[in-house]
Amino acid sequence: MSLEKTLVILKPSAVQRGLAGEITHRFERKGLRLAGIKMMQLTDDLLNEHYAHLKDRPFFQRVKDSMMACPVIVCCYEGVDAVQIVRSMTGATNGRVAVPGTIRGDFAVSSQENIIHTSDSPKTALDEIARFFKPEEIFDYKLATLPFTYYTEEYQIV
Ligand code: PPS
Repeated sequence: MSLEKTLVILKPSAVQRGLAGEITHRFERKGLRLAGIKMMQLTDDLLNEHYAHLKDRPFFQRVKDSMMACPVIVCCYEGVDAVQIVRSMTGATNGRVAVPGTIRGDFAVSSQENIIHTSDSPKTALDEIARFFKPEEIFDYKLATLPFTYYTEEYQIV
């Protein structure tokens, strides 16, 4: 168990389809703490860094263009094992194969217009949060519902 922060990007496909509230509602209801949230217009430079691992893929420019189609909403969530929780709630890359009940499984039918990006490991999450947020945009307040969200031993590491 470890207390982690993770990054979620509500992609243009989520913003344009009016799904921002639905998606943030899911993470809220799960019990994750919202540590940061903002709307921003992504740039080619930022996406070259963010998607550097995809630079040799044939869809590299197309996926960057898709991410710049309109502003996105970036969120930072915190919780015990938050990276794995958010990944499992996200579902498989391709919305057509993502399991119903996951965000992509419920709202996407594409491998590009797939609603959200989520960090894939704790190390990636640290890099991605630093890429999209300034330190002062991440808030370390304590949720009053903590004792009703975790049992004591879990709660103590929080
Ligand atoms: S891959 O193909 O193994 O790299 O897949 P994955 O790591 O799951 O996906 C990385 C990101 O690339 C996007 N993706 C695509 N975009 C456009 N076209 C195609 N065919 C495609 N396949 C994958 C996918 O949505 C991932 O974006 P993020 O923002 O990381 O979720």
